[in-house]
Amino acid sequence: MSGRLSGKVAIVTGSSSGIGQSIAVRFAEEGAIIVVDYRNHPEGANDTKKQIESKGAKAITVQADVSKLADNQRLVDQAWEQLGGCDILVNNAGIEKGADFWDVTEEDYDAVLNVNLKGAFFLTQFFVCRLRDAKRPGRIINISSVHEDMAFPHFSTYCVSKGGMRMFARNLAVELGPLGITINNIAPGAIMTPINKTLLDDKPKLNALLENIPLGRMGKPEDVAGLAAFLASDEAAYVTGSTYIIDGGLTVNYHEQ
Ligand code: BGC
Repeated sequence: MSGRLSGKVAIVTGSSSGIGQSIAVRFAEEGAIIVVDYRNHPEGANDTKKQIESKGAKAITVQADVSKLADNQRLVDQAWEQLGGCDILVNNAGIEKGADFWDVTEEDYDAVLNVNLKGAFFLTQFFVCRLRDAKRPGRIINISSVHEDMAFPHFSTYCVSKGGMRMFARNLAVELGPLGITINNIAPGAIMTPINKTLLDDKPKLNALLENIPLGRMGKPEDVAGLAAFLASDEAAYVTGSTYIIDGGLTVNYHEQ
């Protein structure tokens, strides 16, 4: 397919649902071949693959739990073995667990940090090593959150992981620039995805949140996918080490009644 990402191969982690699925489909529409990664929802991954194929594009699915180093290595290896390389990595897989700070368990801490931060860290390492050895340029896009910067009470593990992701992108922009590899974060606000199911089902909480969003609605996964496609394209060739906030104005909203 022709398009801004024509001929590129992209790994999108957690692309069996939500923002990841939307990015995978959008990248395919722009001409990329997609590696659909999933942890435990093969049906979601197959749905993403089908959506991509219905647009005349190509995708493969790979089961890989990003919190496991061996899985990350296999994910990158599969892209190279089956598709001859990989140009774009989207670190999208993420989870959140709510708890008062004093109740956070080691188990929950490890679960969130291992997926959101350790996973992105080592998958990126494997991705970069391949590019470095092949002397190829590349693109890394992290799906972070407005909470890489903004407090989110009762979600301290999530905030710690996203704050880490913020500095991950800053630091790597400097180290990877000489290799021709860019890295940027997208910081979504409240997007209608499975991660927000509890919130979407709680009308009073949802309405309170909507009052804080100047654009008056939650974001759609497609809103985020459009930004990701720009960052993956040649049009963003000179952009690295940045965070792009996409939140309907949530983080800048302050007004006195
Ligand atoms: C979180 C959501 C939250 C939103 C806005 C996202 O990163 O995943 O749970 O509603 O930020 O606060």
